[in-house]
Amino acid sequence: AKVERRVAVFGAGYIGLVTGACLAELGHRVAVRDVDPEKVRLLRAGDLPIYEPGLGDMIARNKERLTFTLDLREALDDAEIAYVCVDTPPSASGDADLSRVWSVVTSLEGATHLRTVVMKSTVPVGTGARLRSVLDAAGLGHVGYVANPEFTAEGTAVRDFMRPDRVVIGSADEDTARLVSELHDGVDGPVVVMDVRSAEMVKLASNALLATKISFINEIATLCEKTGADVQEVAHAVGLDHRLGPHFLRPGIGWGGSCFPKDSEALRQLANNTGYHLQLLSAVIEVNNLQKRRAVQKLKDELGSLVGARVALLGLTFKPGTDDMREAPSAVLAGRLLAEGAEVHCWDPMARPAETDPWTATVRHASPELAVEGADAAIIVTEWPQLTEVDWARAASLMRRPVLFDGRNLLDPAEMRALGFTYLGVGRP
Ligand code: UDX
Repeated sequence: AKVERRVAVFGAGYIGLVTGACLAELGHRVAVRDVDPEKVRLLRAGDLPIYEPGLGDMIARNKERLTFTLDLREALDDAEIAYVCVDTPPSASGDADLSRVWSVVTSLEGATHLRTVVMKSTVPVGTGARLRSVLDAAGLGHVGYVANPEFTAEGTAVRDFMRPDRVVIGSADEDTARLVSELHDGVDGPVVVMDVRSAEMVKLASNALLATKISFINEIATLCEKTGADVQEVAHAVGLDHRLGPHFLRPGIGWGGSCFPKDSEALRQLANNTGYHLQLLSAVIEVNNLQKRRAVQKLKDELGSLVGARVALLGLTFKPGTDDMREAPSAVLAGRLLAEGAEVHCWDPMARPAETDPWTATVRHASPELAVEGADAAIIVTEWPQLTEVDWARAASLMRRPVLFDGRNLLDPAEMRALGFTYLGVGRP
């Protein structure tokens, strides 16, 4: 029979909520603690501070086993396992800012039932070793430590947690590794046990390689444009090689989100700190920065000048299926367009852009059709499925100039041209 564990989860962000909900679903008793009163209030009222498919239902059906609290003591009360799920944003030096991690770890002092700390936050290699000494100094020398990197993607986080490609457990001792492995009983995926530093590296290396695949295909797309090849055909056939695989070969206007930009930069700085310059990864980041700028240049080439041009941005979130605007390419596009003197009109079904630059200078619309009305050009920034259902014939007639830059190669070029669009894609002839 499965053992019900008592778990405290620190941080009610994407990772903390998904982890807490899934552990409760697996039959454990979970207290999620956050320092933000508004977040805790929402969660207690049965609302979600974020959008993630399936998460709300999972929280609701496990409410017997899942509590939310501001109170540290209440969360730690009888917890055997403490999950660290706080954010680790880049600091001024480019290193990950671990202040929230340290504040959680030092607060564990006096937690009498605690058996192990599990690190889900993305941290630099070597953090586990430093954390060990902090735990020892806090009189928690008997408490184990596990580096347990998170590979869930937004939009599919619940499924990714319950049916992962792998669960990575980095630990210095077997008992602790077993305790955390067993906590995952019911999760459908292989558990891989290794040392702490290697586990920390797996996360950074995985995200960097995924980002590399995208930047690579984006560069090939640029070359396709210059040589008349079609990157869609190329990516498809390249991906059929089982050694390469079909995933993360979708060309577009660049990667964004809460992980890739931050983690690739953190890995680059980690290398720099050791005196080694990661050449490949630096190029991967640079290609991604250029990709967003090239998008605006492409429009400029087409329209002549962007001064006074009205441009519609369709989709603002960093990918579809989320409300997340972190490091979204749309922000660079909007900022560049405004800098060129364009008027920016936007549509997105989920995004709530901040009341800051560049969004305060843009106009929001309730539908793609309204956003493109009177526009000189439209850019598909995020491949929301709603955009495949737009009446594009009507959209073309509503626009001042029917120029469509499909930044995600979502639509059929021949069809769009037949409707009268000047169609521009990424790496398509
Ligand atoms: C990613 C990783 O997939 C996940 O394992 C990790 O834990 C966190 O970072 P996420 O940021 O949610 O997850 O999004 P993902 O679906 O991986 O997409 C990242 C970015 O790459 C998006 O901006 C997306 O538009 C872009 N992308 C992805 C491409 O441009 N082309 C592709 O082929 C795939």
